[in-house]
Amino acid sequence: MRITSATFVVSNQEVSKCPKNQLPEYAFIGRSNVGKSSLINMITNQKKLAKTSGRPGKTQLINHFIINNQWYLVDLPGYGYARVSRSTKNTFQKFITAYFKQRKQLVCAFVLIDIRHEPLPIDLNFMQWLGENNIAFNIVFTKSDKLKPKGIERNIEAYKQVMAQTWEEMPPHFVTSSSNYVGKEDLLNCIDQINSSLQN
Ligand code: GTP
Ligand code: MG
Repeated sequence: MRITSATFVVSNQEVSKCPKNQLPEYAFIGRSNVGKSSLINMITNQKKLAKTSGRPGKTQLINHFIINNQWYLVDLPGYGYARVSRSTKNTFQKFITAYFKQRKQLVCAFVLIDIRHEPLPIDLNFMQWLGENNIAFNIVFTKSDKLKPKGIERNIEAYKQVMAQTWEEMPPHFVTSSSNYVGKEDLLNCIDQINSSLQN
């Protein structure tokens, strides 16, 4: 799929204020600093569509971007950032939870995981929660430029092993690097296929 337009639409904290039309949407979620906003910029070929930062906690709202006037990409705040205050964390938690539970237009979430880390309870628990709430998701490993191919393979294998304890199999996964434009086509093809399946 070729992206011909990618435009910011709205930011807010309330699911009720998200766009009201029925276009399908895809949300990027994961720990703070994992690279959600960078990945949105990478796949849309724009440097500053979503705001990024080296400091965790940059994205603080539900951000809708409309792509090709046909579907939305949604950038969300990260979970698990220790340095925001407890009340900020609770607020994030509340509207992220509300977003996933209430947003009917969400067709698939992409859970981003830093390829460098071993499986972490916070990510595993979040995916478990998505599963329990029947929310479809794929896994996106980020920052693959930070590891050699062997390391990438080893860490994905570790993930498969851990997920096999609770899941029949690991959901589909993608290996990406926003710095090196890795994984863009695969991600866009996946979204394209889902979009096409919705039209039938
Ligand atoms: P929050 O909005 O705070 O939750 O973070 P985020 O998940 O949106 O992360 P963001 O895209 O802001 O990126 C965080 C940091 O990681 C920035 O310094 C990015 O430059 C860096 N980063 C993101 N993707 C990659 C990548 O693929 N490779 C490398 N090396 N760095 C990356
Ligand atoms: Mg962000």
